[in-house]
Amino acid sequence: MHAWLCETPTGVDALNWKELPTPTPQAGEVLIAIEAASLNFPDALIVQNKYQMKPPLPFVPGSEYAGTVSALGEGVTHLKVGQRVACLPGTGGFGTHAVAPARLCLPLPDGFSSVDAAAFIMIYATSHHALIDRAQLRAGETVLVLGAAGGVGTSAIQIAKAVGATVIAAASSDEKCELCKRLGADHVINYREGQLRDHIKALTQGKGPDVIYDPVGGDLAEPAFRSIAWRGRYLVVGFAAGPIPSLPLNLALLKGASVVGVFWGEFARREPAAQDAMMKELVAWYQQGRIKPVIDATLPMSELKAAYARMGSRQVMGKLVMVNPPGSD
Ligand SMILES: NC(=O)c1ccc[n+]([C@@H]2O[C@H](COP(=O)([O-])OP(=O)(O)OC[C@H]3O[C@@H](n4cnc5c(N)ncnc54)[C@H](OP(=O)(O)O)[C@@H]3O)[C@@H](O)[C@H]2O)c1
Repeated sequence: MHAWLCETPTGVDALNWKELPTPTPQAGEVLIAIEAASLNFPDALIVQNKYQMKPPLPFVPGSEYAGTVSALGEGVTHLKVGQRVACLPGTGGFGTHAVAPARLCLPLPDGFSSVDAAAFIMIYATSHHALIDRAQLRAGETVLVLGAAGGVGTSAIQIAKAVGATVIAAASSDEKCELCKRLGADHVINYREGQLRDHIKALTQGKGPDVIYDPVGGDLAEPAFRSIAWRGRYLVVGFAAGPIPSLPLNLALLKGASVVGVFWGEFARREPAAQDAMMKELVAWYQQGRIKPVIDATLPMSELKAAYARMGSRQVMGKLVMVNPPGSD
């Protein structure tokens, strides 16, 4: 097999495409022939040693991928060789093969493409858990999605619409705003133009959004939180802009509002039954055409460094997916 190997976590430039021994799955594991792997925000942090999870060196980055099971470890009974699966073990995806814990593999129904499957779990699980479980979003409420053209942002628009909410999508360019409209956003805000608070006030007749979904943080967080509705829920999803913002707590008091943390990975670990039920619902929604990942581009696995560069320059809309030619080893 071949894979992009991180031997020194000093950034993307230090990754090397290497031939490696194809691993044998141990008890509870499966070997997967990877067809597609998506780029997620943590994939950029992990190769710089800046992510919360620090895998022992050397490691193969690539948090999320889809492919075909090609060997089973001892005790794996719910999967079979030849079955197509998606999985999000955190590392291993940027190669031709990987071993993964069988319990993390999501069996794919017919018609679920490998490209969509490789871009599915992280974004939809995060937004479903955030909006439906943590924020208890209801039909008729208004949601403001920041970074709305990004990976989790695009999924948040689709899930909020599936619930029957009104969506205000906010992003940094007209092109990104256009994508959000095509995804069903009722209103858009280009936050490079004018004051965010003025846009929100105008679009909500001064009431403010009931739920704010924030994967960006930085300078957007405080003006967004100042605009929230009475009994609003502010979802802390991520800090793509870099700095972790602070919020004056009097704002929560004045609006009877909640600041709600979202940590999907920990939810999945601590509440596996709820996670399984959620994934079942998300797969059904995909089959019904209610949700579908936005694929910015598919690139050959060999072009991983170009994909990282595109992500780093904030151009990606939706998800970038790396693909292996059939039969790669
Ligand atoms: N809490 C959880 O469980 C969970 C789960 C998944 C992801 N996350 C986090 O959510 C965040 C977004 O993830 P993602 O996969 O959606 O990433 P993404 O696809 O790269 O989208 C991030 C968006 O953030 C905006 N942004 C603002 N400043 C940026 C900067 N300096 N660099 C890059 N983007 C910037 C960009 O939109 P504009 O250009 O429109 O501003 C971009 O589209 C990350 O911090 C990730 O770690 C959290």
